[in-house]
Amino acid sequence: IFAFHEQEVGPVRFAEPFGGWVATRYSDVDRVLTDHAVFSSDELRHSTQPVPHGSNPLMNSLLATDPPRHHVLRRIVSQVFTPRAVASLEPVITAKVHALLDAAGPDFDLIGEVAYPLSVHTIAGLLGVRSSRWPDFVRWTEAITSFFGTFTADEARRTAFDRALAEMSAFFREESERPSGIIATLMASDLTEDEVLGFCALLLINGHETTKSLLVNSVLCLASRPKPADLRRAVEEVLRYLPPTGGTDRFVTRPTTLGGRELQPGQRVVAMITAANRDPEVFADPHTFDPDRAANPHLSFGHGVHFCLGAHLARMEVRIALAALLERSRRITDLDTHRTPVGIDVVKLALGAATSVAG
Ligand code: HEM
Repeated sequence: IFAFHEQEVGPVRFAEPFGGWVATRYSDVDRVLTDHAVFSSDELRHSTQPVPHGSNPLMNSLLATDPPRHHVLRRIVSQVFTPRAVASLEPVITAKVHALLDAAGPDFDLIGEVAYPLSVHTIAGLLGVRSSRWPDFVRWTEAITSFFGTFTADEARRTAFDRALAEMSAFFREESERPSGIIATLMASDLTEDEVLGFCALLLINGHETTKSLLVNSVLCLASRPKPADLRRAVEEVLRYLPPTGGTDRFVTRPTTLGGRELQPGQRVVAMITAANRDPEVFADPHTFDPDRAANPHLSFGHGVHFCLGAHLARMEVRIALAALLERSRRITDLDTHRTPVGIDVVKLALGAATSVAG
């Protein structure tokens, strides 16, 4: 998916590596996301291709079902993620951010010492599971998402995926012996054990990796710039400019036309969020990062029935962490990033000299 990051916005085209169509224009991506009757999320039911990650609890999760089942599943947990419920977490998250920054000292690794622990701790708290095993959460997530990102079965990845899923399931089974938080809510519903596991895995995976990326991307985008006038607006622009989720798949349920192309049932369509967010038809000067951008209808949290359940939570976590960083450093400057072939692995931040500004 990330191979398309730099791709120009243009007509819908067929991409061999995906064995499917790729939509890049904002209007096409938006239609794929919102027209769930034609563009299904239920790969098992609607894909005509073999599904390498077929039989696992995630394939029955919220993210992979269509209405009306989707609505039933989403309603079980939606109360936990409303703006009001999320706002009530603000003091706890603020305290956590400051505790992490205090422990990190003036020179620290943003990803390992703040971004991961913050996002994992928050979602683990809501789920009602211990966060002490967070390095395992990160490893499981990596193994699971990298396997989901492939379109052909690869033995080594499949083994890592199977192992991660087994370990994660054992962890949730153990935790469910003393149920609290979302696990308790799920167990009180009429979901099967597999469905509860899939739900927990979905929330754990979606709930931390992307939020970690948004915080890191925000620091990278805001580094060496003056403090943004409006942090909420700046975070929306980071979401638009560097979306943590590059794209998402759908499966055609009936013959349809998209961007002038004829699509057939069973075909995969990749909705490229990265490209839609830079469509010049919708965003003026789309390749410029503008923290003051006013109208910003980016698609980084999706759109329609699958709109990100954790959007308010992710926005708040990142805004609180950024505010704390800026409070302690006036400007984010001393950045040292180590690039690996697949991206940025380490972001070193030094808040040294500027800490005294905040006293
Ligand atoms: C759905 C992105 C944080 C839970 C989605 C979708 C996107 C997305 C693009 C739609 C996928 C689709 O339509 O196929 C993000 C980004 C985040 C973030 C960029 C952080 C910056 C979170 C958090 C949670 C979460 C903190 C924790 C609860 C979910 C769930 C869904 C979802 C459960 C599925 C919703 C449904 O199918 O109804 N997210 N997400 N996400 N997200 Fe997030």
